[in-house]
Amino acid sequence: MSANATAAARIVDHTSALPDAERGHRLRLYALYVLAVATNLAIFFYGFDYYKLSSVDRPFSPKHHLLRPSGPIGLYLGFAGVALFVGIFLYPLRKHWAWLGQKGSTRHWLDIHILMGLTAPFIVAFHSTLKFKGIAGMAFWIMFAVSTSGVVGRYLYAQIPRKVTTAELSMKELQELQENLSQQLAAQKLLPEADLRVLLRMPDANRVRRLPIVVALVYMMILDVIRVFRVARLRRHALTFGASLRTLAGFLPTGHRELEKAIHAAAEEAALSKRVLFLSRSQKVFHLWHVVHKPFSYAFAVLALLHIGLQFFLGYF
Ligand code: HEM
Repeated sequence: MSANATAAARIVDHTSALPDAERGHRLRLYALYVLAVATNLAIFFYGFDYYKLSSVDRPFSPKHHLLRPSGPIGLYLGFAGVALFVGIFLYPLRKHWAWLGQKGSTRHWLDIHILMGLTAPFIVAFHSTLKFKGIAGMAFWIMFAVSTSGVVGRYLYAQIPRKVTTAELSMKELQELQENLSQQLAAQKLLPEADLRVLLRMPDANRVRRLPIVVALVYMMILDVIRVFRVARLRRHALTFGASLRTLAGFLPTGHRELEKAIHAAAEEAALSKRVLFLSRSQKVFHLWHVVHKPFSYAFAVLALLHIGLQFFLGYF
């Protein structure tokens, strides 16, 4: 088998053949997400009748002594916030500390960074009893902005090939893969050619090159959403009416292995074409994103440390 055929096989079969370490990581990550969501929901439902009270009424609530920021639950939420804060910053620190950089894979660290970055605003919001004032309030809103912008950063991160793990590919490999998938698709007879052409239709390269970067970012995201509908259409047209209903108009996979393999290859090819076409734009936006994400993160760190230092000074510990 040629090198690019091997690479293509890796893409086409990647759902069924995950290495043990990757499967273990994903399971742990899902478990942590479940834990984070369950914890936040439990606090939300327990504290709901307290959080909706005004500042004047809160001291009269039987939950006040537990949930206020310096109460037993409030304080533990604060400690959890500090732990998440430390965890979040391990990811950027890892780039500077060689001994830490050698531990684990960058992508796994990023997954944990994201989990903590998405959880922290909720935990900190409950710690503050949903009142955002003073330095702590400012730190919270900056953290919220950084966390929200992180979602865009994660999207861009996935668009740009980097040779960090074997599953991530260089630009040349991307193009080879794309050619290989095209050949595989041309050889199969399961998918209607007209629908395949629609799925693989991309905007003109010169037009993309001239797009302002924010427009390019939105355009990329729109193409990703449109692809989901085009893939569903592809599946629908290859199915009988009954099967199409069972798969919710083609949005869910069928049990047909060969068909799903061909559809997966077609969707991968469309996604790859888009990544190749928009690569220079994504790199530019990602660079700009770093320029914004980093200083805001550090501003948040300084304010959060000020807030924690102040609580020490005031003797809350
Ligand atoms: C409290 C929240 C967060 C803080 C303080 C934070 C902070 C940081 C810092 C300091 C960096 C390194 C920037 C650099 O090296 O230029 C970084 C990178 C990154 N963060 Fe966050 N982050 C937070 C939440 C998130 C969230 C919620 C996501 C995704 C949903 C996210 C996604 C990313 C990505 C994709 C990178 C770049 C990875 C790379 O280029 O290696 N972050 N973050």
